Amino acid sequence: MKVVVLTGAGISAESGLSTFRDADGLWEGHDPMQVATPEAYADDPALVQRFYDERRAALSRVQPNAAHHALVRLEEALGEDLLVVTQNVDDLHERAGSQRVHHIHGRLQSAWCTACDERHAWDGPLAPGPSCPGCGTASLRPDIVWFGEIPYGMDLVEEALWECDLFVSIGTSGVVYPAAAFVHWARGDTLELNLEPSAGASDFARSRQGPATRLVPDWVGEVLGD
Ligand code: OAD
Repeated sequence: MKVVVLTGAGISAESGLSTFRDADGLWEGHDPMQVATPEAYADDPALVQRFYDERRAALSRVQPNAAHHALVRLEEALGEDLLVVTQNVDDLHERAGSQRVHHIHGRLQSAWCTACDERHAWDGPLAPGPSCPGCGTASLRPDIVWFGEIPYGMDLVEEALWECDLFVSIGTSGVVYPAAAFVHWARGDTLELNLEPSAGASDFARSRQGPATRLVPDWVGEVLGD
């Protein structure tokens, strides 16, 4: 059985990382449009770099939770028939032990040199303007897909969704495209696991005869363990 799991910020919430749109709609006190667009970076690169530096540093203070571990168990059962596609830029799936994880919105622990177009593993801050290990210029930006930029590896995702028997969406509000459209691209049954119905919940309910939205009182670790 081929399964594609899409994850969003909600899966990392129990680990202590903020979601984007819960509470007052701010992300760690910032309007996402002021820190997650190329225009914001052009206007105030230091602010944007500091923001992502803080998010990168916060990763060392959090751990994967039961939901990340549950997906590792699913991969142990399904092997290459499971693909986790995540909108998250944290590394909690990998730290839990998932092998087949695709980050469509980039990763905090990667720096992208806009001068030589190389990407480098990165754990430290970028705000001080470090040199690119490849070309030596100080042109490193967070390797994050901002609003208005093209998500990574959509060919791979589209193919996996076309071939899957089951598409599961976990912890995403379903308002950011293209991920919000995956429910339509998926060929198999669709299932949403979330605290509340997402913006696209009715598409899960309408598009398939199988399961639709399932609200999770405690979180998906328990659900996937059912
Ligand atoms: P959102 O913050 O929009 O949605 C988080 C979802 O997680 C909501 O549907 C919540 O109900 C759910 N949730 C919150 N706390 C939870 C918990 N403890 N357990 C389970 N679920 C919980 O985050 P995303 O949908 O991931 O893009 O946001 C999508 C994209 O918007 C992000 O990747 C980011 C952002 O702008 C970029 O930065 C390009």
